[in-house]
Parts: sequence; C-alpha cells; structure tokens
Amino acid sequence: MKIGFAGMGRMGAAMAGRLVKLGHEVTVWNRTTAKSRPLADAGAMVAATPAELASQSDLIMTILTDTEAIDATYRGKSGLLEGAVIGKLFVEMSTVRPEVERNLAKSINARGAFLIDCPVGGTVGPARDGKLLGFVGGADIHVERAKPVLDQLCRRVDHCGPIGAGASMKLAINLPLSIYWQAFGEALALCKPLGLDPSKLIEIFSETSGGPNTLKVRGPALADALRGKAPDPVTFDIDSIRKDLRTMLEEGRALGRDLPVSAKALACYDEASRNGLGAADAVMMTASFVEQSARVK
Ligand SMILES: NC(=O)c1ccc[n+]([C@@H]2O[C@H](COP(=O)([O-])OP(=O)(O)OC[C@H]3O[C@@H](n4cnc5c(N)ncnc54)[C@H](OP(=O)(O)O)[C@@H]3O)[C@@H](O)[C@H]2O)c1
Repeated sequence: MKIGFAGMGRMGAAMAGRLVKLGHEVTVWNRTTAKSRPLADAGAMVAATPAELASQSDLIMTILTDTEAIDATYRGKSGLLEGAVIGKLFVEMSTVRPEVERNLAKSINARGAFLIDCPVGGTVGPARDGKLLGFVGGADIHVERAKPVLDQLCRRVDHCGPIGAGASMKLAINLPLSIYWQAFGEALALCKPLGLDPSKLIEIFSETSGGPNTLKVRGPALADALRGKAPDPVTFDIDSIRKDLRTMLEEGRALGRDLPVSAKALACYDEASRNGLGAADAVMMTASFVEQSARVK
C-alpha cells in the first residue's frame, strides 16, 4: 500500500520516518518544503503539492496544527481533495474538534473517498518508536483497512465510535494533562522550601497518585527545567496546549458543559505565552511557575 503523509511537523516527521524505516513506500508533503528534506534523505518521495500526494497514494495520513491548517491542506488550491482520490482512505490525526472531522468526512465522501479520524496520544519519542495511543473514529470497514498501518505507529489503537469519536476522546484525554503542568507547578511551589533535588522530587511524585504517567517519560526533562535548563528539542509547546484548551472549551460550550478549571488553566497558559514562553516545552509551564512563585512574597 502506498502511503502519503501530509504535515512534516514534529509528529508527522517522526511517524512518516518510522513508516519509511519499516519499508513502506511513503510520499510526504509539507507546506514548508525544507522540513521534508530529512524524510527524502531517509528514502521518502516528496510531492510538490497535496493534490499530487493524494494522487500517488492509497492511504493518506495528515497531522497538522489546527482547523485552519486542515482547511488549507485539504481544501486549498492544489489541496488533497483536488487529487485523484476515488476509493482512497484518509486518516486525519490532528487534535481538533470532532465536528471538524465530521465536516471533512462529508467533503471527502463527496469526492468518492473515505475518512477516519485517529488523533494520537504520546509525543515525538513514542511516535518514532511506534508507541503512540490511537483514538479512532469511523466506520468499521475503513478502520480495518487502516489498522495494519496504525498498529505500526501505535502500541494501542482504540476504536471509539463513528467519525469524530477519536477527536472527542483525544480532547478528553489531553484535558487533565493540560491542567496538570500548571497544577504541578503549584504543588512544587508548596514543597520548594524543602530544597529537595528536582530528580528526587519527581521520583517521589511518580510513585504517588500526585504524578501522572507522563512523569515517567517527561520527568528527566522536567527535572532539568527545574534546574534552569529548558528542554531542547521541544516536544509539545505551550502555544499548542493553549490551542488544545481553547478547543476543549469550544467543545464544552457546544455540548452545554462548563469547564471552569480548564478555563482558568487557559488563562495561566495565556499569561505564560505573553511572558515569552509560547514556543517553550510544556514542562516549562511547571518550572516557570515554581520560579515565579519563589519571587512572590
Ligand atoms: N507534539 C506533540 O507532542 C503532539 C502529540 C499528540 C498530538 N499532537 C497534535 O498533532 C498536531 C501536530 O502537532 P506537532 O507538534 O507535530 O506540530 P508542529 O511541529 O507545529 O507541526 C505542525 C504542522 O502543521 C503544518 N501547518 C500548520 N499550518 C498550516 C497551514 N496553514 N497549511 C498547511 N500546513 C500547515 C505545519 O507546516 P509548516 O512546517 O509549514 O509550518 C507542520 O507540518 C497538532 O494538532 C497537535 O495538537 C501533538
């Protein structure tokens, strides 16, 4: 099966790189062409436009920033939907609202092709190692068709319901984590006077219910951040979490649900972004809060 992959950002590049490594015939496209170069060096073909990518692939995967990026890549000039797509399957993996995936499915179906949504949990390392968590929405028949490839990218794939169900699940899963980075900063502010070594602190939290799973993976980067060394490269940045929180709040409003803690968390992230941390890694949210709280008397 020929695989096309649009969006060579942090996640897309890691996933497409893995598929190339596993021996798939992969064609990539990215708005900023230079980001496709490492994939070309690894053996991928590079399409000049999304339409060309779609025309020469059987399965087309996309992981892009947000709704605007999806619109531009699918519906823009020489977009994916302008390719020869009849009978083809699209897998949309961005973190967006479920209605975005449902609307996209209508446009894709109108051209005789099919869509499933499969946003993912996990960051760049798991993407490279095939250890993501895939949350899938779509019809059984299309999910089955994509499953062999999804299984090579994910350690677990859960079919959550019809189109858009994956997006709902992904937003729900990211919600507590988005709040956590701020909450952990507040927790550490309380025990800062103890002067414990950051690695020791994170080890203690990881062993208790005060620490989520992510501390096992992101703990060392957070310990470095607490020592004043910002993570490089960045895996998931503060502006992306702001985008996720805004999306969760929009989805909550559409469902008639108030999400008060998420709203407050977004205000904290907005402030961090105003203070120049938008492009910084998520763990800097925690580290900068501890630092800042130490200055408040
Ligand atoms: N990073 C993570 O840990 C992580 C984990 C799970 C899910 N996600 C989700 O996965 C998605 C991608 O995240 P990422 O971290 O890989 O982001 P990223 O590194 O910032 O990459 C974003 C991608 O979207 C493309 N893009 C943005 N605006 C566009 C537009 N108007 N037209 C065409 N392409 C456009 C970018 O192209 P250019 O290179 O040209 O800018 C790039 O390929 C997001 O929805 C994010 O929430 C991220």
